[in-house]
Parts: sequence; structure tokens; C-alpha cells
Amino acid sequence: MQFCNQVPQWPMATRILGIESSCDETAAAVVEGSGKILSSVVASQLAAHAKYGGVVPEIASREHGRAIVPVVQAAMSGSTWSDLSAIAVTEGPGLIGSLLVGATYAKSLSYALALPLIGVNHVEGHIHAVIWEQPVQFPALALVVSGGHTHLFSVAESYELRLLGRTRDDAAGEAFDKVGKLFGFGYPGGPVIDMLAPYGNEKAVRFPIAKLKDGSLDFSFSGLKTAALRWFEAQDIADELADRYELLSSNPHPSAEEWLQVTPQRTLDAVASFQRTIITELVSRLRPSAEEIGAKSIIVSGGVACNRGLRDAAQRMGLPIPIYFPSPALSTDNAAMIAAAAFPKFRRGEFAGLDMPVYSQLR
Ligand code: KG4
Ligand code: ZN
Repeated sequence: MQFCNQVPQWPMATRILGIESSCDETAAAVVEGSGKILSSVVASQLAAHAKYGGVVPEIASREHGRAIVPVVQAAMSGSTWSDLSAIAVTEGPGLIGSLLVGATYAKSLSYALALPLIGVNHVEGHIHAVIWEQPVQFPALALVVSGGHTHLFSVAESYELRLLGRTRDDAAGEAFDKVGKLFGFGYPGGPVIDMLAPYGNEKAVRFPIAKLKDGSLDFSFSGLKTAALRWFEAQDIADELADRYELLSSNPHPSAEEWLQVTPQRTLDAVASFQRTIITELVSRLRPSAEEIGAKSIIVSGGVACNRGLRDAAQRMGLPIPIYFPSPALSTDNAAMIAAAAFPKFRRGEFAGLDMPVYSQLR
């Protein structure tokens, strides 16, 4: 059970059921205005997608369809329907078929229980995961880094977001996952690269990264991915790759020691160098964008915010303002962050109609 560090701004007894189904996690959570996360249930579809090396949209929708009712039932085990004040659901961005499962179920609940429906932007959810847990000072700079997003926002005291920069191609998590797949680390590759990077020399391989010349705060990671592919093609790597595939086929979650037995030093060096390049790029935007908006604190959120190298690098920059990360449970996709983001909307009476659409791209 987690608690909100900030003085609650909403009635203590307000309880919101959050539902998240934008990608490959079916999640539901009940969050209370007192600051307590009463429940947070996440059903991961990783096993269903692992053999394809990435999320298959059609499979994701079907898996959400199977999981949505049991996951909400589990999240509601300590509450009754009459305890709820509202139903919040991710309306986008994400996979349309996946979003529709959560949104349609949330609409049905809202209709049947006569409770207000609140549509939440997934990226806003990642930001509110940190606002819920940490004493964030505003205006804040928010870096959201996940499998689908690499965005920089200015966050006002009213929680209004202004986009400052974004990736022009791949998201950082997507680059981690594509390179992880190339190296035979399975899906998702991000956590494995994070686990193995400390064993390699991060200065061993020079991976170039696109420098945008227009002075914007945008990112570009597709060139880095291509550079990793070129490095990979230049090596004689077939045997070690076969060993890693064999390891994964017998054990879906190998430990660091098990990976190290099938990963020679030159590959560990490439892994460490790749991670270092991404991290350097991500943290390089923090100082100029924080200065541009006069930020009083920095939020780093999304699945890639779990990365230990990124956390260390951000803290070691010695910025004069605090940097906040979510707890690991609220870093990757979950529904507590969706319910948390719904509280200010609930207070403002910002409710969605039962004809609420879902959307695939960031608005
Ligand atoms: O936020 P999230 O669960 O889903 C999206 O909204 O996309 O993020 C998932 C992403 C995946 O790309 C995964 O590889 C990455 O977060 N990720 C990591 C780590 N843990 C998860 N990337 C690097 N290091 C990690 N420790
Ligand atoms: Zn996410």
C-alpha cells in the first residue's frame, strides 16, 4: 500500500477505480483521496508476445478481453461498487483494439453504476504516478520515457502540460527493445540491457547519435538503432546468439549470471556502450529544458525510468533542483497512475460522455 506524500486536495473518502489497457498490460487499481493506493493489479501479457519479439496488436486485444473482468474483480476485492466516486480509464495514446477493451468496459461500469467516467491520457498517467508519490514542485519538467513515448513536458501547478520536445522517430524504450531483440535478449530487451550493462565497458564502442541541428529539444533514436545493427552485422555472432536463444527457450527470465555465461565480453561492451549513448542523450536535455521553463523540480517517468543507469546519471548531473522517479511498481504501465491522474479531473468535473472515443497518437 502506498501513500501520497502531498496534502490531499480532494475529499479523503473519494475512491476512483482506474483501468489501463493501452498496450500489453491489463491493469486495474482503486485509489483513495486520502493518498492510499488500495489495490493495484497488473496482468502482464509478456508471455503471449515474447515469441514474436514485440507486442502483436491482435493478440494484445484478445488478451485484454480475457483479463479485463478478473483484473477489475481482483482490484475491487477490498471495495464495494458503492464505495466508488468515479471510473477512470486510459483513452489514448495506445493500440486502438487494446484501448477499446478497457474503455468499453469502463463505459459499461459507468452506465450500470451511474458513476462519472473520466478519460485519462496515458502519458499524463505516467506523470501523475510521480506527482502522487513525491513532493513535486511546480513548474516541473517531465521526461516520459517508455516503449511508446519519449516526451518532454512542462507541468504547471494546475497540472496542465505543455509539450517541449519529443522523439522524431523511435521511443527510447523501443530502441532498447529492438536492440535487445537483435542481440537475442528476448522481449522486452530494456530490463536485460540494464542488467548486463554494468558488466561491459561503456566506452568500448562508439555509437553515433543524430544531432538535430534546429536547436529543438527533440530526440532521434533510429540512427542509434541502425548503428547497433551495423556493429552487430560486422561481428561473427551466430554461435553466441544460438546459445542465448537456447537459454531463453528453457528459461523465460534468466538471471544476470545465466546471461553472462552466454554473452562474451565484446557483446557486453556493446550493450554497455549502447545504454550509455541513450542515457547521455536523454539526460542532456534535462538542464536546458529545465532552465527554459524555470523548473523547480524534474519528473522522470515511464518504463525506461526503471533503468538504473538513467537514474544514476540523472542524479549525478548535480542539477540545482530535485529529480523525482516513480517507485518501480508505478514506473511501468499500471492503473494506479490512471486513477491518480483522474483526481484533478474529478475535482474540476471534467467527465467524459459514454461516446468517448479512444485515440492512438498523443494529443
Ligand atoms: O511504460 P511502459 O510499461 O509501457 C509503455 O508505455 O510503453 O514501458 C515499457 C518499456 C519497454 O520498452 C521496456 O523495455 C522499458 O520500458 N523498460 C526498460 C527497463 N524496464 C522497462 N528500459 C530500460 N531499462 C529498464 N530497466
Ligand atoms: Zn506507459
